[in-house]
Amino acid sequence: MLLKDKIALVTGGSAGMGKNIVLSYLQEGAIVIATARRAEKLEGLRNCTEHNERLFLLPGDVSKKSDVEGWFAFIKEKFGHLDIVVNNAGIMDNMEPIADVTDEVWEKILAVNLNGPFWTCREAIQLMLKQNTNGVLINVASGGGIGGGRSGAAYVASKFGLVGLSRNIAYMYAPQGIRCNIICPGAVNTEIGSHMNNVHPYGMKRVQEGVKNIRIGEPQEIADLAVYLASDKSSFINGATIVADGGKGAW
Ligand SMILES: NC(=O)c1ccc[n+]([C@@H]2O[C@H](COP(=O)([O-])OP(=O)(O)OC[C@H]3O[C@@H](n4cnc5c(N)ncnc54)[C@H](O)[C@@H]3O)[C@@H](O)[C@H]2O)c1
Repeated sequence: MLLKDKIALVTGGSAGMGKNIVLSYLQEGAIVIATARRAEKLEGLRNCTEHNERLFLLPGDVSKKSDVEGWFAFIKEKFGHLDIVVNNAGIMDNMEPIADVTDEVWEKILAVNLNGPFWTCREAIQLMLKQNTNGVLINVASGGGIGGGRSGAAYVASKFGLVGLSRNIAYMYAPQGIRCNIICPGAVNTEIGSHMNNVHPYGMKRVQEGVKNIRIGEPQEIADLAVYLASDKSSFINGATIVADGGKGAW
């Protein structure tokens, strides 16, 4: 088992690739703290694993600082230790180019996709530094974190921000044995698009023009990468932006 007895926090663990990451980490022997907004959906994880004694469910909203602090208060009290963080929770915008981005949309997307990981990473690093042990952070960005045309302005800005934050963490804390890597998925078969409404027709058209004939990925294909990056098998990989998009970016 690649992650035996490691303590891992996964945000957005109730659905999509986060769910597969939670289940794969349990399979690999980790103790997993899974968070997400919807308590009922999160509770559904219990029916998907035989390792419930190693699964802890904490509902909450990553865009609320007090919720993130609550997760870490639990972790400190229960375990006093943390080995792995996966910042997976994230939401799409509606593909709006900047001329049509409202302050409300900008703030919402940045709050979930960048503020949340900022708070989570800061708490995690502070804890890991005290532990004086190696730690691993994995931030799920997007193809929209390295290319301008994959979504609207707010989403792309949030994911570029996450890539930059992650690389800074990777460089700053490499001497302390803390690694921080970025997964940039291409299109993956999850629920993320189901929350979009009033999709911007021009923005959508422009995004689709860039989508070539590449298959959609499955959540488990991202979870397998997240297992590798959390494990000692990737011990020399730090600050890397790893694209998993079936070749779309290679076009
Ligand atoms: N699916 C794709 O095609 C795709 C492509 C590139 C990047 N991504 C990124 O991958 C990550 C996971 O996306 P997914 O496709 O699995 O999405 P999904 O919508 O299927 O699942 C997202 C998970 O995050 C949780 N979540 C959303 N907002 C939250 C909040 N404010 N607080 C706490 N939890 C919250 C949801 O409850 C859910 O558990 C996101 O960061 C997304 O931007 C997805």
